[in-house]
Amino acid sequence: MKTIPLVSSVIMALALLTGCDSGKNKRAAFVFPQGDVTRGQTAFITLNCYECHRVDGVPGLPAPKVAPEKVVLLGGEVALPRTYGELITAVIHPAYEHSIEPEGPSEKALEMPDFNRKMSVAQMLDIVTFLKPHYRRLRPLYYDDYYGP
Ligand code: HEC
Repeated sequence: MKTIPLVSSVIMALALLTGCDSGKNKRAAFVFPQGDVTRGQTAFITLNCYECHRVDGVPGLPAPKVAPEKVVLLGGEVALPRTYGELITAVIHPAYEHSIEPEGPSEKALEMPDFNRKMSVAQMLDIVTFLKPHYRRLRPLYYDDYYGP
């Protein structure tokens, strides 16, 4: 007499397990909403990022405030253009950047501050959307030498 409720609860449990399984695949990555280039440039000025940075191909920014040799250019031709994720990391986790920076001690003299308590999530997304297109891939003259035969 009790067999039918037991069977149906087993079937329900299986259905629940299968449901959970298919959900797993949707949790693989961060997916950020699109930012806005114009608002990104405004936030870059509001948060005083320009004090230490110039942005390649953006002439209208206020002049940096640090000594000219300390100004860090963002964008331009680089061997490995920054990915979206790398730029997000550079903006909200500068200490991590310091730990992997390949440059010498002169660059280390000026460390980027942490903006996470002053910068909204919207400003972060807008700034990265503003910066990303200014990174261009460097085309080496001797391409094969970089990667071997
Ligand atoms: C006090 C100076 C200073 C200020 C202000 C500053 N930065 Fe930086 N930033 C640096 C320095 C120095 C580096 C070089 C890497 C490091 O931190 O050693 C850097 C690196 C970066 C990088 C990585 C650049 C690359 O291509 O590798 C990004 C992106 C960046 N900053 C964005 C910002 C943004 C956005 C703001 C404002 C919210 C900001 N910075 C404010 C000093 C500053």
